[in-house]
Amino acid sequence: KRPPASILFIFGGSGDLNYRKLTPALYNLFLDEWMPEKFAIAGIGRSAYSNEEYHGHLLDGITKFSRRKDEQNEHWGDFSQHVSYLQMDGDDAAAYHKITDLVKEKEAEWGQHPNVIFYLAVAPQLVPSIATKLGALNLCSDVHCTRIVVEKPFGHDLKSAHELNALLSGMFKEEQIFRIDHYLGKETVQNILALRFANALFEPLWNRNYIDHIQITAAESVGLEGRGGYFENSGALRDMVQNHILQILCMVAMEAPVSFDANEIRNKKVDVLHAIRRIAPDKVHEHAVRGQYSSGTKKGENVVGYREEKGVNPESAIDTFAAAKFYIDNWRWQGVPIYVRTGKYLNQKATHITLQFKSPPHNAFPSEAEDVWHSNKLTISIQPEMDISLSFQVKRPGQTMTLDPVNMTFSYDDASKDHAPEAYETLLLDVMEGDATLFMRGDQVEAAWKVIMPILENWESNKPTDFPNYAPESWGPDAADQLIAREGHAWINTP
Ligand code: BG6
Repeated sequence: KRPPASILFIFGGSGDLNYRKLTPALYNLFLDEWMPEKFAIAGIGRSAYSNEEYHGHLLDGITKFSRRKDEQNEHWGDFSQHVSYLQMDGDDAAAYHKITDLVKEKEAEWGQHPNVIFYLAVAPQLVPSIATKLGALNLCSDVHCTRIVVEKPFGHDLKSAHELNALLSGMFKEEQIFRIDHYLGKETVQNILALRFANALFEPLWNRNYIDHIQITAAESVGLEGRGGYFENSGALRDMVQNHILQILCMVAMEAPVSFDANEIRNKKVDVLHAIRRIAPDKVHEHAVRGQYSSGTKKGENVVGYREEKGVNPESAIDTFAAAKFYIDNWRWQGVPIYVRTGKYLNQKATHITLQFKSPPHNAFPSEAEDVWHSNKLTISIQPEMDISLSFQVKRPGQTMTLDPVNMTFSYDDASKDHAPEAYETLLLDVMEGDATLFMRGDQVEAAWKVIMPILENWESNKPTDFPNYAPESWGPDAADQLIAREGHAWINTP
């Protein structure tokens, strides 16, 4: 069923996110017949574009980034009729009548009041000012139809996230606010819920009695991609751990929901964040490791170190790699370490979760078996591989009792990979449908900040002495290996 009539206003309409992700996602929804029967999209920006020029710019983005490419020329004309450009300065309150005018025009044309969605794809410092001006429009008191979508980063720390929540909630009801974390829209991340709660097989093992430890890796092979200015105010811990990785952790560790109601799922997830043990300020070095890449080579090409990147302070103390060890203090997870890591310019792009099971309680096999003794692992690969793999031991055929580890793998095959919607497609559709299940509630965002604040504060007050400390194409600093080796574990790089 298609969503109801909707108008989307995209602030940052001439920006990168819209060019690479939002318009391609909306276009794919259109091709897959998921867009409402009646819809309009207005890109808002300060640059001067005629509608025609704007369409040309967006089509260029679609050619480069759209999941579905083959049909673009055929349907682009139909789609682009729904798209217009509003040149306005988000800081200029007097210009906001352009928004109400367009809504009135569409209302008259369609004979119905549509959903009005404001997508803030702008730099975080612009969010309060735009949101305040939107809040002053009568439109925003319509709790059922008017929604605001806020991109990450949501705040810069706990205090600023709290202030932003307070500001937004002064103008919008919580059900109108859609805080986006695009990892939650990824098919393979949503599939964690299906794997865990649509099967009776795994859940009995999914706890401290059977699981030795959990690893979450979100490795990136790209470097800064020209985002020096942004990254200098962020760093890997803020950019990836506070949001994407902690959200994945919540999906893996949450209790079973009673229903798929948005608040039910979000309550169960936020319980995990509340249960994560606070890292004591003097123990941060035992729980977290930071890294920054040096110059080196990447696929045979020379690349500059982080401190030489454009827009970066030559003595920057910003982390381009972060690893941490967390414990969840609850009945299910007591004592199970959860290791997470992420970084730029790592050896490969790979996001995966591994649940390492405990060894069998007794090894009755001949001593030769010791060398090949592996404990079971369940690996959920999020991207670019999209599979779930269970490793276990079998007897190698032959006259000796020799063991071999083998994998049983479910893979989204190539065909369904093509059909798997991009994260932004799923999330934009959810916004139009008013389904907030895959979005972050205000308290979740703050709870996630609380988890990382001790690390952030420690890192900010103690400048690193060893930066840069890892080379491009490596798996990060040695200290990250030591972090996990202290409990006898090792990172699984390629599951
Ligand atoms: C974004 C971060 O949220 O996620 C980027 O700001 C990062 O730094 C990106 O590269 C990774 O997203 P994906 O979907 O490519 O894994």
